[in-house]
Amino acid sequence: MVIRSGLLWACLLMLSGCSSSTPTTLYQRLGSAPGIEAIVDGLLYEIEHDERIVHHFADSDIGRFRAKLTEQLCDLSGGPCQYSGSSMQESHTGFNITLADYDALVAGLIKVMQRQQISIADQNALLGLLAPMYKDISYR
Ligand code: HEM
Repeated sequence: MVIRSGLLWACLLMLSGCSSSTPTTLYQRLGSAPGIEAIVDGLLYEIEHDERIVHHFADSDIGRFRAKLTEQLCDLSGGPCQYSGSSMQESHTGFNITLADYDALVAGLIKVMQRQQISIADQNALLGLLAPMYKDISYR
C-alpha cells in the first residue's frame, strides 16, 4: 500500500511537472524559432505553387521576405524578436493586393499550420493577429 501510494505520488508529480512546462506563449505553441521557420518555409512553398498570387512576388527578394516574415511572426506571437522590416503599407504599395489574393495567402498559411499539427485555437490566434493588417496590405 505504501509502495502504491508512493507510485501514485510519483505519477502525480510527473503530471504536474508536465503541466508546469506546458508552453504558455503562442510563440512557443507554434514551435518557437524552428516552428516559425517551418511555417514561413511552408508558406513560401504554397505561394510558389499558387498561380493566383505567385506573380506578385516575381521581382521580390525572397530571402528578405522570408527573413522579415519570420521575424514578424516571432514578434507578433510573443517571441524574442523585434520586427525590423518595412511597414505593411510601405511593403505592399504598388501591388494592388485584392481580398481574393489575401484569402489565397491565408488559405496557404492555414494548410501549412494544419500540416504542422498546430491546434485550431492557435491557428486562429495567429490569424487573429494578422487580420488587422489587411487594411494596410490591400488595394495599395
Ligand atoms: C497575412 C498577411 C501578410 C503579412 C503578415 C505580410 C507580411 C509581409 C512582410 C513582413 C513583408 C516583408 C517586408 C519588408 O521587406 O520589409 C512582405 C512583403 C511582401 N508581401 Fe506581404 N504580407 C501579407 C500578405 C500579403 C499578400 C496577401 C500578398 C500578395 C498575395 C503579399 C505580397 C507581398 C510581396 C510581393 C512582398 C515583397 C515586396 C517587395 O518585393 O518589396 N503579402 N509581406
